[in-house]
Amino acid sequence: MKKQLFVLLSLLSSALPAADLEMTVYRSPTCSCCGRWLEHVKANGFKVKDIVSDDMDSIKEKNGVPEKLASCHTAQVNGYIIEGHVPAADIQKLLASKANAAGIAAPGMPLASPGMETPGHLDDPYQVISFDKNQHMELFANH
Ligand code: CU
Ligand code: CU
Repeated sequence: MKKQLFVLLSLLSSALPAADLEMTVYRSPTCSCCGRWLEHVKANGFKVKDIVSDDMDSIKEKNGVPEKLASCHTAQVNGYIIEGHVPAADIQKLLASKANAAGIAAPGMPLASPGMETPGHLDDPYQVISFDKNQHMELFANH
């Protein structure tokens, strides 16, 4: 019993993110919701390298973000692409799962997502979608 508890605890701790996981974020200079999302991921333990670009379209294309899933900012963390206002908890879940995906996205600008929080819409449902290099998409999380 004790041994099982120990195994469980070590599994849990290995699933926790390192305190200073590095993330590179590309965003347009005119985007204010991007800045609020940066604060959200920083508050959740990510160390952010913030890169301002006025050619987000080619950054998304280079990183293989499916057009259908496009949002404002595009980030890279541990080899995964994070597109748009994805909650930090979903990023941590993706990193812990070591999923065979290219990345995850919160398409568009969901009004209830981190950095977008819009009064009157905080309970609006939105989805986080995973995608692979062949643009195959799957539901990753419902919010
Ligand atoms: Cu945004
Ligand atoms: Cu953004």
